[in-house]
Amino acid sequence: MAGKLSLMLGVAAFLLAQNASLPSGANYDETKVAPYVLLDPLKTTNGGEITTVRAWEQARGRWISLFEENVFGTVPPGARSFRIHPRVTESDAPALDGLALRTQVEIPLTTTPIGPLMHLLLYLPAKHAGKVPVILGLNFAGNATVASDPGIRPTDVWTPGAKRGEPARLVPFDESKRGSQSSEWQVERVLRAGYGVATVYYGDIEPDAKTFEGTHGVRAAYPSTPGQPTWGALSAWAWGLSRATDYLLTNRHVNSKEIAITGHSRLGKATDWAAATDPRFAAVLSTESGKGGQSLYRRNFGENIAHLQHSFPYWFTAKFADWVGHDDMIPVDGNVLLALIAPRPLYVASAQDDLYSDPEGEFESARDVGSIYALFGKHGLGIDRRPPVNEPVMHDVAYHIRSGKHDVTAFDWEQYLKFMDQEFGSPLARAGSSTGGTP
Ligand code: GCU
Repeated sequence: MAGKLSLMLGVAAFLLAQNASLPSGANYDETKVAPYVLLDPLKTTNGGEITTVRAWEQARGRWISLFEENVFGTVPPGARSFRIHPRVTESDAPALDGLALRTQVEIPLTTTPIGPLMHLLLYLPAKHAGKVPVILGLNFAGNATVASDPGIRPTDVWTPGAKRGEPARLVPFDESKRGSQSSEWQVERVLRAGYGVATVYYGDIEPDAKTFEGTHGVRAAYPSTPGQPTWGALSAWAWGLSRATDYLLTNRHVNSKEIAITGHSRLGKATDWAAATDPRFAAVLSTESGKGGQSLYRRNFGENIAHLQHSFPYWFTAKFADWVGHDDMIPVDGNVLLALIAPRPLYVASAQDDLYSDPEGEFESARDVGSIYALFGKHGLGIDRRPPVNEPVMHDVAYHIRSGKHDVTAFDWEQYLKFMDQEFGSPLARAGSSTGGTP
């Protein structure tokens, strides 16, 4: 009896410890999820059925508008017509013990000298034959955090105000943070598989704060047009991803048909939206983008619109606030967002302990897009239930739920690289040689 009691206490302590890391106030009880019906992207406004690619391509525009109006906002005309004039500050410098060639580029995001400036870091495998497929993603903490490479230029980063409610400030890069996100980026692993990696610090594009010191970011530079859905920060980051791609397309070593994008969490939401709106992204590797991204508002599990709106109102267009408490009524959802990526290869990744993002909702979105991929003769997940933990399912749509917490890990990257190889052919095999470097 005593043994049983201590076992029960042990289990309770374990569950408490696990839940301690989950934000409170959200539902984590599957039995309390109210029944829901997913939006059907294959239904027309008058109840008809979309059965051809042509009809789907026509319907896409309406969904994009609905996302703009209700979630992300509209990119103002000034930003829409902006053309980049990149300044390459370093080109193909040997880096990472001979494994890579490093290029760094400054991309002003306005035509004025004091406007926001984006710093792009590009690594290509040192030994490559022909054009290189590149995986592009925004990073959370500065380019110099993605690898322990003394050659990455340190740039200012945002730091939260010292006290609650104080505005965020731009501060010089802290050298002790160099390489601190290496495990999330796995740059060497990606290069050894024959892929390039490109990244930009998201704070270069738009600060991630309710309030911040001074005037920064592209939303201040390109104010929303009165009467149009206000431009949220997620949309600004997505716009930045497209500007990074404008540069990548000018680089003669980059395979313009094989630029994939990746993003984690809030940057996954920005990534999903970037891919929905910019067809130049050839594949999407979306990690735990949760509510507002690949997960379902309609499933009352984990984060909800009230949480998002309370903590991050500036991520969204003003109208998003109208959906607080009406998560089941918002006229768009994660399954539709992912549908807008079809027919391009799409990898959706969840993590077992990341209940706030609602892994089941992420899976159901990924499963649901199978019908859109089928229109194009592509293969969706082809399974009804979530696969076991750490057992990826990879067709043209891929999914895994990894053990562990909200994060990007070596396991995630290993699957992404396998998936890219599957969809485009391994760059190593195509080059018929190894990229070399130390294993
Ligand atoms: C918060 C937010 C999530 C987001 C996450 C992240 O938890 O509520 O929606 O995905 O931050 O970006 O790490």
